[in-house]
Amino acid sequence: MSIFFNEEKNIFTLQTKNSTYQMKVDEFDFLIHLYYGNKIEQGNMEYLITKTDISFSGNPFEANDRTFSLDVIPQEYSSVGIGDYRISSMNLIEENGCNVFEPKYIGYKIKDGVKKIEGMPYIYDNQDKPKTLEIYLKDKITNIELVLNYTIFYDMDIIARSVTLKNNSNSIIKLNKIMSSCLDFYYKDLEIIHFYGRHAMERMTERRGLPYGITSICSKRGTSSHQHNPSVILCEKNTTEDFGNCYGMALVYSGNFLIEIEKDQLEQIRANIGINPENFSYEVKKGEIFETPQVLITFSNEGLSKLSHNFHKAIRNNICRGKYKLQRRPILINNWEATYFDFDEEKILNIAKQASDLGIEMFVLDDGWFGKRDDDNSGLGDWFVNKNKLKNGLAHLVKNINNMGMKFGIWFEPEMISEDSDLFRKNPDWVVKVPNRNPNKSRNQLVLDMSRKDVRDYLFSCISSILDSANIEYIKWDMNRSICDAFSSVLSKDKQGEFYHRYILGLYELLEKIVVKYPNILLEGCSGGGGRFDIGMLYYFPQIWCSDNTDAIERLEIQYGTSFIYPICSVGSHVSAIPNHQTGRKTNIDTRAIVAMSGSFGYEMDLGIIEKEEKIKVKQQIKEYLKYQSIIHNGLYYRLSEPNSKDWYTAWQFVSEDLKESLLNIVVTKLGPNRLNLNIKLKGLDKNKKYKIQNDKKIYTGDMLMNGGIVLKNPFGDFPAYQLYIKEMEG
Ligand code: GLA
Repeated sequence: MSIFFNEEKNIFTLQTKNSTYQMKVDEFDFLIHLYYGNKIEQGNMEYLITKTDISFSGNPFEANDRTFSLDVIPQEYSSVGIGDYRISSMNLIEENGCNVFEPKYIGYKIKDGVKKIEGMPYIYDNQDKPKTLEIYLKDKITNIELVLNYTIFYDMDIIARSVTLKNNSNSIIKLNKIMSSCLDFYYKDLEIIHFYGRHAMERMTERRGLPYGITSICSKRGTSSHQHNPSVILCEKNTTEDFGNCYGMALVYSGNFLIEIEKDQLEQIRANIGINPENFSYEVKKGEIFETPQVLITFSNEGLSKLSHNFHKAIRNNICRGKYKLQRRPILINNWEATYFDFDEEKILNIAKQASDLGIEMFVLDDGWFGKRDDDNSGLGDWFVNKNKLKNGLAHLVKNINNMGMKFGIWFEPEMISEDSDLFRKNPDWVVKVPNRNPNKSRNQLVLDMSRKDVRDYLFSCISSILDSANIEYIKWDMNRSICDAFSSVLSKDKQGEFYHRYILGLYELLEKIVVKYPNILLEGCSGGGGRFDIGMLYYFPQIWCSDNTDAIERLEIQYGTSFIYPICSVGSHVSAIPNHQTGRKTNIDTRAIVAMSGSFGYEMDLGIIEKEEKIKVKQQIKEYLKYQSIIHNGLYYRLSEPNSKDWYTAWQFVSEDLKESLLNIVVTKLGPNRLNLNIKLKGLDKNKKYKIQNDKKIYTGDMLMNGGIVLKNPFGDFPAYQLYIKEMEG
């Protein structure tokens, strides 16, 4: 059992394998948060709540008690206008302009299975037998109800939360804020780890103490964005990769989001996560409901590695879907960095042939195959084959590539439109723009209004006819700008504040239709690289192009940050040419491959023009990837170093779940003479098992490798890298 209700004490206890979450209905029917953290097998944590008279913290009328204040007591979901002055989780305005809302407990239900969220991605059951607790709260004056949903995945230590608002009042309301969850921490001084960045440098990691006041991490770009990721970790100060208490929260949503964390004057910490209330205002009519996106929450008492393992498992097994969810993805060659827009059939077939000779399994045709598209000024929206480039059409090209023994995949950027396109000339009103104002352009392109059904129908029909015209087995779904000028010509003036959320709902609806109609096609998400790398997208795409930065050394930091929340199989990563197109850096092909193998592997270069010795290496790399792929995608992932620390190397390791095999990866980032040898301590092995390391005659126990570590001769050269396969000794 994972959900308990103590009727005598009015206490809800949620148990996972390693954590306990507790809340209580108090004597005035407020729902109070008691505890979240290390597992408490039995016990009532109510004693933690201290009632005390704090000046200027008001008291509910019915309490008639100076020591009882909502401003001081931890709340399960904080409301607005009722004397809790910390950040509120919601803000609604009644028709009469009032925005005071007092949700009080009226009941609960425990249900088998998960909470399905209509029209949005959610964590589903994959033989975990989860249970869902619904707690009902109601504002007695308006009759408006809130349902707090908690789905418990016991073994994975995951709690999925969301909120449903039911307008049972007699009038229309405006929802200006409704967060997916609120988490109050009592007596804790926590640090925050979050992931910021920019195009081609996504998910940089920052860890710092929480200041007094509000820390906010958000996107208002219409996508989850390169700039901030919709996920956060809060941890105790002494928490490391292997030790200490930490909490992770990751939103299952791909649009504007807000993570706000307040440390107040009493050192209480509150963390809210949900849709960004800026540019959000939703009308909920009498009888209607509004559902928030879901947030996945996890707790680890064994440091950050375990927290990542919890997220990795949940996302890999209970978020990703489709044929390729757990299946090995084909090793691909993508032509973008090899040709950009400048290609024709002959050039493409040539690149494909060279790649197939080396053992690559799929060719992906990137941007430029459709409409009038010779640069980024035109063509988006015209999803019809460009016969100037592909003179014999797509089916012919695909057939030729299939005849080389390779699968074929193709790029789309469906949500976008170029002014210079037939689609724009025919339907200028399909663009996101405010009437009588010129819209912003970005990469010379405009955004299609995905909240419109006619737009979605058009896209579905174009994409379907391309997919039906040839044997296409993969789609790269790109989205190359941030959204602004938010306005939809099909929404009434009272509903314009719904645009950004409706855009995402429209996108999810279209993607759902595509994954249902084409269950065998592998989809890879992309938004200028990793600008929409979130759990919402991973429900449709089991992998996402991690970054437009393909420099192996820069990727170390990008992939490090990504690994805190997202499973390695979701990370699209390719070997590209040198000098690297983003940085001009030259790294050898071994180093580039070792970094790219920690993901869904491929190449993005013309393999016809590399040296003969490098071709031999590529063949070898493909063999190695095939050998290690299962440990990489299904094993447990360990970060062994911190990029940008004093370490002169970056190292990471995979361990198979049965602890019999492991793969150690090291890239030396700062060379220097006169050093001791390189010593790295491994993680996650069985301390009693005997292991052999590739090319090493010695026999080690897990204990030795985890405590003494391995020793490698001092490396030499530009960014040398090592990949060592470790296997349990037989017998
Ligand atoms: C984005 C993607 C790239 C490539 C280009 C094509 O930048 O991230 O991988 O597909 O678009 O225009």
